[in-house]
Amino acid sequence: MRPATRAVHLGRPPHEPDQPLNTPITMASTYVAGGDMEYGRYDNPTWRAFEEALGAREGGRCLPFASGLAAVATILDLVGNGQKVVAPRHAYNGSVMQLADLETRGRVTAQLVDITDTDAVVAACEDASLVWLESPTNPAMELADIATITKAAHDAGAYVVVDNTFATPILQQPLEWDVDLVVHSATKFIGGHADLLMGAIITRDDELHAVLKGRRDLVGAIPGAFEAWLALRGLRTLPLRLEKSQANAQELVRRLRDRPDVTEVRYPGFGAMIALVLPHGGAADLVQHSTRLWIYATSLGGVESTLERRRRWKSEPATIPDGLIRLSVGIEDVEDLWEDLAQALDSATT
Ligand SMILES: Cc1ncc(COP(=O)(O)O)c(C=O)c1O
Repeated sequence: MRPATRAVHLGRPPHEPDQPLNTPITMASTYVAGGDMEYGRYDNPTWRAFEEALGAREGGRCLPFASGLAAVATILDLVGNGQKVVAPRHAYNGSVMQLADLETRGRVTAQLVDITDTDAVVAACEDASLVWLESPTNPAMELADIATITKAAHDAGAYVVVDNTFATPILQQPLEWDVDLVVHSATKFIGGHADLLMGAIITRDDELHAVLKGRRDLVGAIPGAFEAWLALRGLRTLPLRLEKSQANAQELVRRLRDRPDVTEVRYPGFGAMIALVLPHGGAADLVQHSTRLWIYATSLGGVESTLERRRRWKSEPATIPDGLIRLSVGIEDVEDLWEDLAQALDSATT
């Protein structure tokens, strides 16, 4: 099956008389003993359908989590005491904050790198135990040379993780480059409707899968059955939604690049995320408060377009420009999106 067909058909009950077309939402804290489920912290039939669908998209075995950050924490917990983690200085700030917290408590050492400087990242891998990548980065929109860095990390005996939230499994499958673990905030493009929080890890390594599942079983960072069902439903339309959002984003980038009042437009050429840099934070604040259609809100990846000045968060590093606005482009008509953005830019910069 080709990707769009798989998105529609995986994770469904068998085609047999009286089977529902959709996987039911199984609300159960416990199961009759003697089978594989046993207890709701270990397993759930609705998760299994989601695991099958997302695992096939990424090309590995999938483990769902309560949120993207629950998945990130479970991976970082694998790092041995005092060992080194290499991570992008501009990764999602929640992931960087988790790392900083672990470092402050003496659990690990962290080296933050510019992931566009492949030589520097390769050099940093030498004594690392885990190499964290995010490509494109949130919100700087930088790309990493994942294949080269993965090879260097493996030569050094380190595991490699890619946060694939921005690219989605439609546009990038990092396991194809031999990456050990892919992590998602399924809250974003996978769910796609700003109505759930969920995370996922995908791997081809059965041992890592067992260790991570063991940690999840112990700490209980599990999603609800309803969230898994919503995320599975989101996966069905991900290829279509992304096609439209990406086409909208590409058109907006073309038009934004013609505006002299926009200092910089950062777009890696694919996906539905854009970073737009204005000369100062004040102008960016005005834009985020002047749109009528674009919603001023954090988070991303929904059918509705959202925007925010990222430095409004104190945790965002000073190397992110004060005037940077992150745009998450939805599936609305691009002319409506453009008219609203253009009038907000006009009011802020003239
Ligand atoms: C790239 C990326 N990774 C991880 C996360 C964390 O995910 P969640 O909010 O589902 O915990 C986010 C949230 O914005 C994100 O953008």
